[in-house]
Amino acid sequence: MAKSELNIAVLGFGTVGTGVVKMLLGNGELLARRCGKKLTLKYIADLDIQRDRGVKVPKGVLTTDALNAIADPAVDIVVEVIGGVNPAKKFIETALKNKKHVVTSNKEVIAKHGREFIALAVQHGVNILFEASAGGGIPIINALTKALAGNNIKRIFGIVNGTTNYILTKMYRDNADFAAALREAQALGYAEADPTSDVDGYDAAYKLAILAGLAFNSHFAYSDIYCEGIRRISAVDIALAREFGYVLKLLAIGIAHAEDRVELRVHPVMIPERHPLATVNDAFNAVFVEGDCVGETMFYGRGAGELPTASAIVGDLADLALHYELGGTNPALHFDFTQKKIIPVGEIFSKYFIRLKVKDETGVLAAVSRVCADHKVSIKAVQQKDASGAETSLVIITHTVQEAALQKAVEQIAALRQVLEVSSVIRAGL
Ligand code: HSE
Repeated sequence: MAKSELNIAVLGFGTVGTGVVKMLLGNGELLARRCGKKLTLKYIADLDIQRDRGVKVPKGVLTTDALNAIADPAVDIVVEVIGGVNPAKKFIETALKNKKHVVTSNKEVIAKHGREFIALAVQHGVNILFEASAGGGIPIINALTKALAGNNIKRIFGIVNGTTNYILTKMYRDNADFAAALREAQALGYAEADPTSDVDGYDAAYKLAILAGLAFNSHFAYSDIYCEGIRRISAVDIALAREFGYVLKLLAIGIAHAEDRVELRVHPVMIPERHPLATVNDAFNAVFVEGDCVGETMFYGRGAGELPTASAIVGDLADLALHYELGGTNPALHFDFTQKKIIPVGEIFSKYFIRLKVKDETGVLAAVSRVCADHKVSIKAVQQKDASGAETSLVIITHTVQEAALQKAVEQIAALRQVLEVSSVIRAGL
């Protein structure tokens, strides 16, 4: 007989958990009408059940005992919004083994253990959904696994970390200092508990592993993805990028090549200011997907924060409620039916922005140009900046070149007698 009500245990009463609770309580009637079932908040489990989250919780719902909530036979769906691997992994596995459906926003645990979870879910006749794990409120996983399922995906790339996009936007617009912009992103609830994961690009790499896995039907270890964050980006680079008509963004990039090879990488990119991604600001995310039949599509929305992330979680709850009587597994998520190889970053092609601190003397430019010519690095533009007596800055933009050749040229440039420092090397163009 069809159930009229599904009981939900929310594990984690942080930013996202609070958003889920607000939505279940505030939009409960709308959800019940749309799904044909009531989604009842049975438990909220957190170690801290004293702190006021600004939401009035029904009596008897708060608990510090997550395992007890998972084991309660009345619970149908477990929402894991704790983040990180421990104890989230144990809770997810316990829930699946107890034949509870799982919905999570946890990109780290899905990127690292998603494949095992899906196998476990299949074994126990339940489902695990993770729309909120990439792109926050943007329904990109639903798009890849459902609406675009008939396409061979050629490229998927975009801005998938709200915290770094917020920081880069502040640095670009207001000349803000990195640390102050990060503090603001944290206060707004965008950043991870440990923002290292955002700033160093791991959060984006987790999301790329998930999105590329679904887009290219292969399992990718996130640790094999080339990953460079924004820690070394300076206000000077952002200001110079602007002078050259570029905006600096942290991109996650996936490109399918022939012979089951793919490019997967996360790093800062100077993108032309007229490119649609250049206008994606603050904590917004945007993902470009190009399919062989649909052509180019772009998905845009809030990639982080309490209610946008909760929106994706609650969407997964609605999905489960709508298909509840069909039970079990979701074949769309059995994604790894091919085995693709990640192309080493040295083999990729890009343009580059290079900033050098050099001695202000005759022949510097000639020496640098000679090294570039020796490695077939073609120079598109050069500018000298801020000469101050003995020193000056040289900014070089290259034409498209293979990364390995560029790196060799940079090594030799760094060793030139006239070069005091290679201040930055940033990929440019799209
Ligand atoms: N810390 C993440 C971000 C949260 O800034 O995008 C959403 O995954």
